[in-house]
Amino acid sequence: MSAFRDGLFDGWTVFVAGGTSGINLGIARRFAELGAYVAVAGRNPEKARAAADSIGRGAEGFSCDVRDYEAVRAVLERVHASRGPLDVVVSGAAGNFLAPVAGLSANGFKTVVDIDLNGTFNVFRGCYDLVRKPGASLIAITAGQAVNPMPFQAHACAAKAGVNQLVRVLAMEWGPEGVRVNGISPGPIAGTEGMARLAPTREIAEALASRIPLRRFGEVSEVAESAVFLSTSSAAYITGTILDCEGGSQLGDSRPRL
Ligand code: HXC
Ligand code: NAP
Repeated sequence: MSAFRDGLFDGWTVFVAGGTSGINLGIARRFAELGAYVAVAGRNPEKARAAADSIGRGAEGFSCDVRDYEAVRAVLERVHASRGPLDVVVSGAAGNFLAPVAGLSANGFKTVVDIDLNGTFNVFRGCYDLVRKPGASLIAITAGQAVNPMPFQAHACAAKAGVNQLVRVLAMEWGPEGVRVNGISPGPIAGTEGMARLAPTREIAEALASRIPLRRFGEVSEVAESAVFLSTSSAAYITGTILDCEGGSQLGDSRPRL
């Protein structure tokens, strides 16, 4: 049950990079339910259109690759031109696959860093002069791999660690203008592409869930509530933080043992 009430974001403009599926789509949907105009962006234009249609409430879908600064900037400018200053910008586009470093080409490593880390730079740098000042909430979607190393995840670990530091630096640089910059670090979230890739069988998923203090995967809607919270006045003094929405996963294996 959500603690947030209808109309909370009436008149707000929200942009979600990578908002055409999974966790980011859930975030976009929740902001729209609470009254915001929402623009979602991904590479695939049909997927972007379908995502916007599924959200309804005037949401729009745009196509751009976050690795291409000019393309990202062009979409942000279109949203700004039609809807005015952006109140919330979420950077959640990501790519991932399991690969040992010895099986990872230079381009494979670069691809994930380009999408996750450089893409987040492009989204945040691109929106700098288009966001509401003071008042804007910028949110990067990161992951526990940023802090805790994981085999076969060198690319994602390195990229998300960079995202966390980018969040902290931007919080310092843009705080004086009234722009808050935070991250959300989801744990394993049920029914997502990310988990299909990282925990591809039911056995692996169940083993993973059994180690989590809350003993389950999270829901997309639970991450969305965290994004909403970070954008409300209840979080007015919160910037430069990474909010773990992960059932305690990062604490380690919580199964009883001697
Ligand atoms: C080794 C691989 C690989 C694999 C791709 N590559 N898959 N290497 N093992 N399984 C290599 C390719 O061989 C190539 O290198 C390079 O990566 C780029 O591949 P492309 O297919 O050309 O890239 P592109 O079309 O840009 O696609 C990017 C992608 C793709 C990341 C590879 O999977 C994608 O579009 N993913 C988006 C959806 C997604 O991943 N969602 C999950 C995010 S969730 P060479 O040398 O051959 O040219 C998430 C999970 C949880 O992040 C959180 C953890 C951080
Ligand atoms: P997802 O469904 O695959 O969503 C990825 C989104 O990013 C899609 O909208 C995709 O659309 C877009 N995208 C990918 N590459 C892009 C690019 N180069 N340019 C523009 N858009 C691009 O993933 P998810 O599993 O929900 O994960 C969402 C976020 O949560 C990611 O940041 C991920 O790292 C993080 N996360 C997920 C989990 C989890 O359990 N799933 C755990 C921790 C962190 P297109 O393919 O059309 O481009």
